[in-house]
Amino acid sequence: MPKEREQWGSRFGFIMAAAGSAVGLGNIWRFPYITGKFGGAAFVMVYLAVVVVIGISVMLAEFAIGRNAQSDAVGSFRKLGGGLWPLVGWMGFFCGFVILSYYAVIAGWTLAYMFKSFGSLMQSAAAGKAGDVFGAFVSDPVQSIAYHIAVMAIVAGIVYKGISGGIEKCCKVLMPALFVILLVLIVRSVTLPGAGAGLEFYLKPDFSKLTGEAVLAAVGQGFFSLSLGMGCMITYGSYLGKSDYLPTTAATVVFLDTSVAILAGFVIFPAVFAFGIEPGAGPGLTFVTLPAVFAKMPFGMVFSFGFFLLLFIAALTSAISLLEVVVTYAIDQLKWSRTKAAIVMGTAIALLGIPSALSVGGHIPQIAGKDFLDAADFITNNIIMPLGGIFISVFVGWVWADGAKAEVTDNGKMVFPMYTVWLWICRVVAPVCIAIIFITGLKW
Ligand code: PFF
Repeated sequence: MPKEREQWGSRFGFIMAAAGSAVGLGNIWRFPYITGKFGGAAFVMVYLAVVVVIGISVMLAEFAIGRNAQSDAVGSFRKLGGGLWPLVGWMGFFCGFVILSYYAVIAGWTLAYMFKSFGSLMQSAAAGKAGDVFGAFVSDPVQSIAYHIAVMAIVAGIVYKGISGGIEKCCKVLMPALFVILLVLIVRSVTLPGAGAGLEFYLKPDFSKLTGEAVLAAVGQGFFSLSLGMGCMITYGSYLGKSDYLPTTAATVVFLDTSVAILAGFVIFPAVFAFGIEPGAGPGLTFVTLPAVFAKMPFGMVFSFGFFLLLFIAALTSAISLLEVVVTYAIDQLKWSRTKAAIVMGTAIALLGIPSALSVGGHIPQIAGKDFLDAADFITNNIIMPLGGIFISVFVGWVWADGAKAEVTDNGKMVFPMYTVWLWICRVVAPVCIAIIFITGLKW
């Protein structure tokens, strides 16, 4: 007799796990920075429109595919679509594998910085040397690889414990903890003298910056942030029972993810501006600018620790979902045990992450002018995920529309008044919008 498929223990647990996947490094450093760059509140409005219209729709599409097929991304497309459709699942498998390899490297930095907060980081940052500390850390192969492997071991250890006993249990604790830490940090940041200038920079609507590029950035950011286009939500959906009403579940996950992204800006900008520091971008902002900010605060080491813990939790729960995409494939298609899948796939991904870890310190040659890490990010983020998003929407909109309707309504037992709107978003709006960002984002 085939073994019964694992299931999430509760609706709350599933929402925390899916939100855990969505809330990641993308929310905490990338979103606030893009918002500041593209016109503050004006950009937030566009972003909201994108995630409400396209984000919820594609997430619902992924949940419906996974729950109906009760299989990994490749198996789901094989079952529901056949023909070449499983290739879309393969693209997801590839993304899970490659994204996790470098994502775990960066998660390793956040783990290291949690400890460094109590070491000499604060003194060095106070002396204007936070950049040197970061440079020395990422170019030390032993440290960066060791933290990367430690993260992969933690991730594989949780995934090995299974859906409800590992992933759900851990996300049910970590996600509420993440919210609490976020709120504490917001209160600290916005009550600093001079915080208002940061709030103004972050939120003052500047419609002149709302260019075409800004709209494209909103779509790209929305996809990565919501973990869409690579079968992650198909995989998580495949462990759902029939009783959940998927549209509200998808909307809740999108709401939580977007809230964390917007709130993260209330931690970063008021603090940065209160101390008269230029907000940098990306890793620089997180690992160089912010330690300098914390160094100037009373009890800075505690807030520094809290901030890197926040980032670590966000990264860990996302990393878990990336590994689960690959592990579910191995369990469903290769018929491996969960233990074997977690160990073998976890090890393989840890090994693939080593060149990424080494590339940041310049220890290995670049690929056509990009670090290995940046190249891996570019290929997955700018090429495969948008393509995946297009194919998933088209599949649900044109190939499996009746099946999707039956799945979402549990064969007509529940009502789904927005079905026609959803259908046309999947058929036309989402594929066209994503195709535009795909083409424009193709600059290497
Ligand atoms: N959503 C995560 C973030 O915002 O950092 C990244 C991510 C996780 C992308 C899982 C894709 C995925 F399947």
